[in-house]
Order: sequence, then structure tokens, then C-alpha cells
Amino acid sequence: MTALCKENSRLIDRLTAALMSDSGFLAEFGRFGHAAASSPAAAAALADFLFAVDKDPHEPDEIFRKLRWGGQLVYISRDAAEVAATATRFADRGYLIVQPPAFLRDSFLGLRLSFLGRKLHYFVARKVTLVLPREFSDRFTYQVELHPPQKPGEPWSVLKQIPAPERVAARLRKRFPDVTEEIIQKRVRKFTEKIFPVFLTREAAMLKIVEKNLPAEYAGRFPKVLDLEKDDAGFVRKLRMTWLRNSLPRDGGPLSQVEFARQAAELLHVLHDVIGVIHLDLRLDNIVITERGVGFVDFGSSVRVGEDLSDSPLLSTIFDELMRTSEIQRMLEKMTLSGTVTSPIFEAGYQKVDKTVDFFYLALQVNNPLSNPDFQGLVVYDPSSDAAKALRKLTDETLKPGNLNNPRYRTAADFVRGVQRIEQAGV
Ligand SMILES: Nc1ncnc2c1ncn2[C@@H]1O[C@H](COP(=O)(O)OP(=O)(O)OP(=O)(O)O)[C@@H](O)[C@H]1O
Ligand SMILES: [Mg+2]
Repeated sequence: MTALCKENSRLIDRLTAALMSDSGFLAEFGRFGHAAASSPAAAAALADFLFAVDKDPHEPDEIFRKLRWGGQLVYISRDAAEVAATATRFADRGYLIVQPPAFLRDSFLGLRLSFLGRKLHYFVARKVTLVLPREFSDRFTYQVELHPPQKPGEPWSVLKQIPAPERVAARLRKRFPDVTEEIIQKRVRKFTEKIFPVFLTREAAMLKIVEKNLPAEYAGRFPKVLDLEKDDAGFVRKLRMTWLRNSLPRDGGPLSQVEFARQAAELLHVLHDVIGVIHLDLRLDNIVITERGVGFVDFGSSVRVGEDLSDSPLLSTIFDELMRTSEIQRMLEKMTLSGTVTSPIFEAGYQKVDKTVDFFYLALQVNNPLSNPDFQGLVVYDPSSDAAKALRKLTDETLKPGNLNNPRYRTAADFVRGVQRIEQAGV
């Protein structure tokens, strides 16, 4: 450890003070900078800010795994060449350099220690991709990245676009190793020229429906469309929307599991019964915990309640396929066959486009909130707690009701009432 490292915390304070001259950094650091220290659960979470000084670990890929999406790394060293080279490596690995290499003079910092009486170099990088470049994840399909403000003072936003053909090809090859290259290329064209654009266009339309019908008190819990880029045929190729940043609630610590369950079920009720949209891909990956509470993203496979898909051969074929093969449908099938799901309510959703598809998966997932790694530090989950047990009972009664002829929990709204009863019981 160098002397510089021993001075870390003081240096960080001073450097942060210098960076504060950038009002955006100030606001963000004020909001997120100290979260890690606030509780043991938060300490286990991905970081919104990391500071690395000199020889502290500063490999881009290693930092990537520790940072939240949108989190920032500040690297500081007296070695100008190392700072410049490190910034270049970060720029190549899924980050945007938001503060290019710069330096502070000791006089500026007011450092008293003589061995530091030299220039202090630094840069700041923000993690903007979801997965490392050239790495694959089954969690995501589209190319989704954080997009910097276009004018000073504007917030960062999310840019969702059709993935590059090479990426789609690589994914297909991995999934279907026995298929010939010719067929792979044919499928790539079908996906990138037809299927993805159709679905991204639908997503933009769904988000606008959500925005139009959303009660004011739920603002900020669904993305809003900011702008679109269309191709010659009128299909959306790029969709820019508001960023629902994963974070602690503005006024407090992490959500309790029961609170998480109530907020998620309530939002689903609003989506289904007030807005009139069925999500159909409500995996925890598509749920966020924001400063305004639980939010839903990824309306890529959503439909309007009552929408007739049979008019479009393309849509009806794809939705049929989706409803046979999606993760949610496979789980519903498995649990029905094993007798874990017996409620007649879910028959309506089996291999079909129906509200109960969302309801089924939500009722299941509130029992394991941390299976989305981003929620670490944002929701408290102890499987042996009374709250976890009470929620599991609620889920069991929903999926496998005591009275098959008259299930108590038929909708998201019923489930909200169930969670409220747990809350009232003071569990
Ligand atoms: N507006 C947003 N605010 C916050 N996070 C978002 C937003 N849009 C997307 N994300 C994050 O990016 C991830 C990927 O985006 P999205 O789910 O829309 O695409 P996808 O997963 O590639 O699509 P699909 O689920 O159809 O494969 C989401 O799981 C979520 O973590
Ligand atoms: Mg998704």
C-alpha cells in the first residue's frame, strides 16, 4: 500500500469537493454517494460510486461487476500515464468517460503533505451497458444503454435499440448449435428487419398508452418515451425513454419484503385494471426499485386488454410461440403438472395472452425478490422471517386455493388486499 492509499478517505473527500464544481456530480453524489455505508445490507449491494486510488483494483471488468448500471468509478493517481491508459481501457469496456483525465494541483486541494505536492490525476467513468461488451446474457435481448444528457441539466436516459446482426447471430448460434449458417443468417434478417422493429414499435405505443392513462400518483414508475428513431418503413429502431434508476426510496432505507410485494401488486393492479395493459414478461429482471417505489420496464411483449391479435398473422404467430415457450409459461406448465398450481384462475393464462400470466408470476416472485441481483441492498429479504413465511402462505393460497370452486385471490387487486392483511397483522 502506498502512502497515497493511506490517505484515501481524505483524498476522496477533497477530490469529491473538487468534482462538486460540476453540479451534476454534486447532486448525484449527495443522493447516492453514502448509501454503501448506511447498512450492512447496502454494503453487500452493487455500488453507485467506487473510488480507486493508485494501486487499488481498477480493472474495468472487475469494477463492472461491482457497480450498478449507471454507477460511476473515480480513478485517482499521481501517474498521469496510468490515468490516461486506464481511461482508454474503461472506454472500451462498457463505460462512458464522463470526466476525461484531468488533474488537480496541490494548491487547489490545499494539501499540506509535501509528498503529495504534485499533480493528482483522475478521471470519472460511468457504467452504461448492461453486460460487458462481447459477453452474453440470457437476461437481455435488445441493445440497452444509458444515454448522456443532450443538453446541460437534462437527466440521463435509456436508449433501447435493435441489436446488431452479429450479436443476434452469435446468440442464435449458441442456442442452436446444429443449425446451418445459412439458416442462422436468414433468422438474423427476420429478427433484425422484422420482428424486433415490430416489437419495439409496439413497446413505444404501449408506453404512450401507459403514460396517457396513468394516475398521477404513479408517475415515475413506468418509463416515459422521450424520442424515437424510425426506419423507412415506419418501424421504431431506437427508443429513448426515461431512466428508472434502481435506488433506495428518497425518504428511507430498503423496502421490506412485504412493502415490495404490496407495491408490485398494486402497480400490477393499476396496469391491468386502470391502464388496461397486460405486461406478459413480468420477470424480476423487468422490475425496478426506484426512489418512487417499485416500477415496471420492458413493455416489449405487452398487449392491450382485449386487443385482437388475430388481425395480424405475424403477431398472432409470435405471441402463440411466446405463450408456449416463455420462461413464465414454462414455469406455469411445470407447476401445473406437478400440482403446485391448481387454481382454475390460471387455466385462463395457460398458453394464452391473459392478465393471469402476469398475476401468476408476480405472486410467485415476491417470495424471492433477491433473485434479481440489482435488488441487493434495496429490499430486505430473510427467508426465515415471519413476513417471508406469511407471503409464502399467501402465494400458496393463490396458486393452490383451499376452495377450488371459489379461489380467494383471482386478481392483482385481491393479492394487494392479501398483502395488506399481512401488514395489518404487523408481521
Ligand atoms: N427505462 C428503464 N429504466 C430503468 N431500467 C431499464 C429501463 N429500460 C430497461 N432497463 C433495464 O434494462 C434491462 C433490459 O431492458 P429491456 O428489458 O427493455 O430489454 P430486453 O430485456 O433486452 O428485452 P427482452 O426482455 O424482451 O429480452 C431491463 O431488464 C432493466 O434492467
Ligand atoms: Mg427485459
